[in-house]
Amino acid sequence: MAETTGKRKADHIRICLEQKAQAKKVTAGFEDIQLVHRALPEIDRQKINLSTSFLGKKFSAPLIVGAMTGGTEEATKINATIAEAVEKLGLGMGVGSQRAAIEDKRLEKTYSIARKKAPTAFLIANVGGVQLVNGFGLKEVKKAVEMIDADALAVHLNAVQEALQPEGQTNFQGILTKIGEIAGELDKPVIVKETGCGISAEDTKVLEAAGVKAIDVSGVGGTSFAAVEYYRSTNPHNKGEVFWDWGIPTVISLIEATQTAKIPVIASGGVRSGIDIAKSLALNAKLASISQPILEVAVKGAKQTEDLLSMFLTELRNVMFFVGAENLESLAKVPLVVSGKTTEWLNIRGFDTISYSQRSTLPVEY
Ligand SMILES: Cc1cc2nc3c(=O)[nH]c(=O)nc-3n(C[C@H](O)[C@H](O)[C@H](O)COP(=O)(O)O)c2cc1C
Repeated sequence: MAETTGKRKADHIRICLEQKAQAKKVTAGFEDIQLVHRALPEIDRQKINLSTSFLGKKFSAPLIVGAMTGGTEEATKINATIAEAVEKLGLGMGVGSQRAAIEDKRLEKTYSIARKKAPTAFLIANVGGVQLVNGFGLKEVKKAVEMIDADALAVHLNAVQEALQPEGQTNFQGILTKIGEIAGELDKPVIVKETGCGISAEDTKVLEAAGVKAIDVSGVGGTSFAAVEYYRSTNPHNKGEVFWDWGIPTVISLIEATQTAKIPVIASGGVRSGIDIAKSLALNAKLASISQPILEVAVKGAKQTEDLLSMFLTELRNVMFFVGAENLESLAKVPLVVSGKTTEWLNIRGFDTISYSQRSTLPVEY
């Protein structure tokens, strides 16, 4: 079993690096969000403060690298490289699904390298929600947490991937109860994340009630696991191409979740620039998370990884300057305009898109 999991992880890395496993016809929706430029920002760019806190831990900036890998030698290097970069920048990271190492102790070091290289950064352990239905309990998730001395556990939801992959597990019955049990028993906060198809308001609501401490929407617009499985598929009846862009676009999912839950929400799925990060935070995300673009630089080295992450943070700082937001609290209050497919969807679903445009942070009376 662990061997198959290792092969699958290697396939995922190869496909995400070599092939275009990104959403094709549907975007994350960031083009529907416009921040209102301030010709009179009335702040000093040098004094902009990007720091934040998330689940009780301080971050130098509101950015994490999303869960990707572990279980293979190549994954060890990738996790080490990302860990080194996030440690230096005061960010956080998730490791990929730890099922392989929970089942085969020899693979633990492919994940634990992250803590070795990032002694103080916020690290997120990772297990599949469907694993909780299929036998994983408190003992296994504790093992995942201890393996990397994690600050939190992410439970990932991936119905599309499981349905399309040859070795997929498709019984999700009772998954919410299992997540609630783990959230109640584990001594670390549980984050629930999707894997590229988004999380609706309805699901956010029940997850929050079940005791989950944060939601990572991982919506449509970036990496598509239907696409990944399309490249891996050998089953002519289940190639998955029609599901390439299936799900809720990231920005829509983010707005549904933030308007529903009190717990912090992470924006991910096609976040590709500091502008996307700024828009996410202005839409009340607590953090943004980026995966695939970081994989591309992580295979090159820690310096390249640090450079790309730093570039995103510089872009974020610039946007904050242009909208006159000196810190993240102000950024969460700047006016923005929601339009296009995002407005259409949200209006039909009964969410508010107008009040964002009526916010004001003007320091001067006009
Ligand atoms: C190569 C690769 C492997 C991934 N493996 C996992 C995983 O094991 N567990 C998980 O929760 N998410 C996994 N993801 C999903 C990401 O955490 C993220 O939700 C998704 O890629 C969307 O972000 P992006 O568009 O920035 O890539 C993986 C993504 C990539 C690119």
